Amino acid sequence: MAASSGDSKRTQQGPAFDSNAMTLTRFVLQEQRKFKSATGDLSQLLNSIQTAIKATSSAVRKAGIAKLHGFAGDVNVQGEEVKKLDVLSNELFINMLKSSYTTCLMVSEENENVIEVEVEKQGKYIVCFDPLDGSSNIDCLVSIGSIFAIYRKKSDGPPTVEDALQPGNQLVAAGYALYGSATAIVLGLGSGVNGFTYDPAIGEFVLTDPNMRVPEKGKIYSINEGYAADWEEGVFNYIAAKKDPAKGKPYGARYVGSMVADVHRTIKYGGIFIYPATKSAPSGKLRLLYECVPMAYLMIQAGGLASDGKISILDIVPKKIHERSPIFLGSKSDVEERSATK
Ligand code: AHM
Ligand code: MG
Repeated sequence: MAASSGDSKRTQQGPAFDSNAMTLTRFVLQEQRKFKSATGDLSQLLNSIQTAIKATSSAVRKAGIAKLHGFAGDVNVQGEEVKKLDVLSNELFINMLKSSYTTCLMVSEENENVIEVEVEKQGKYIVCFDPLDGSSNIDCLVSIGSIFAIYRKKSDGPPTVEDALQPGNQLVAAGYALYGSATAIVLGLGSGVNGFTYDPAIGEFVLTDPNMRVPEKGKIYSINEGYAADWEEGVFNYIAAKKDPAKGKPYGARYVGSMVADVHRTIKYGGIFIYPATKSAPSGKLRLLYECVPMAYLMIQAGGLASDGKISILDIVPKKIHERSPIFLGSKSDVEERSATK
């Protein structure tokens, strides 16, 4: 029997399948085309990071549960050595970046010293990363993330630790992956910030949040209040004001304890994320090269601000690869108000 005209239009059940999706790989290639001199190295590098993130995401979601059960150094039921998730993700980042032929030097939160790529595999980029941030949340299945920052090597000759000590205003690109209720990558390539959500059906990150903009002002503050007795006065007074109905509608408090989750929420909903200096930790806790700087770069590109309390995070010239910095980042108006509170 011939199909009616209505039937002939119906080619499938359910919502239409996107036959022209803007995947992350496609997006990066498209951006690369805007630069006539581009060699494709950065695209290749970002592809290798994407692979590390896909594999980390699969592990975080306990896709291979038997392989992940137990502690690093243990032997699982298959008789294979068990790797902790942070060890596994670090190996993934290092191996994928090394084999991309685009990178000469790496800084990882997990490694005390810089990691130099074998000479025959060296490329022109330097990558600083935290392969799995939010260590206290790993074992209880709360959101965690990966963070990365990409620089170009400026000096001639073999790479040295000094090549990694560039201020954030020299960044070529930065991004993070959030392993939350979905896995997402947020990427900045120098002109805005774009968000991609992982679609497990096709194994690709798809553009879901084009040109992300942080609201000018938010309604949320995010800080570990357990350390309040240790804060400097300005921070204490600012948070007190945010809770005081006499000073306006109180802000909501949200603190995941995973920087990627707290920063992602801040970009999406606005507000302020703070990890301040404390009496016992005068430089705060978070690391400049692979936590503060990439997040500050993304926040600023999304229209927000990021400060250490005195200057922009991106203007700090690092002296050590694992240097720490206090950080105040988020909506422009909230960060400005915090800076003005004595
Ligand atoms: P980590 O690198 O050991 O995971 O520590 C970094 C994490 C950040 O994700 C988070 O913002 C912060 O530590 C939370 O620290 P605290 O528990 O002191 O509030
Ligand atoms: Mg970390």
